[in-house]
Amino acid sequence: MSTAVARAAESTDELAAAMARGQSLLAANCAICHGATGDGVTTIYPPLAKSDWLAANRSAAIRAIVAGLGEEITVNGRGFRGQMPPIILDDAPVADVLTYVVNSWGNTGGRVTADNVAAVRALSSV
Ligand code: HEC
Repeated sequence: MSTAVARAAESTDELAAAMARGQSLLAANCAICHGATGDGVTTIYPPLAKSDWLAANRSAAIRAIVAGLGEEITVNGRGFRGQMPPIILDDAPVADVLTYVVNSWGNTGGRVTADNVAAVRALSSV
């Protein structure tokens, strides 16, 4: 196997592992409000599925998880003014759960790393 192919296979395995961890983390930490399939709840909890807010604000999504969120936001044309509490998780689990979310339910895909989370924490002192 070429190095590039080996590296691609490794990163596919790594993504699959992050997705499996992320799914359990979502069930334990997010599904009670956002639903197990990210549909949200009426006008109270915004959807994570196909969320345009999430697509446009990945760093802000990390910040919402580590620091909470309580401002007026618009998700897929609907206004929300709720209060999400900070979710107490280390950098790697935050990265895994958000990796799961962005690769599920019609979201834009890609990878969120523990370094991405650490960078957001450093900027927002949380
Ligand atoms: C106690 C309920 C609750 C839990 C648990 C919770 N959230 Fe939220 N979340 C909210 C509320 C309420 C908002 C909207 C806040 C606002 O209006 O400013 C929100 C907003 C968001 C947003 C931005 C809007 C959107 O829908 O794209 C994201 C992303 C998000 N949450 C992800 C998560 C993830 C990932 C977890 C688990 C790690 C999680 N939330 C856990 C209640 C919750």
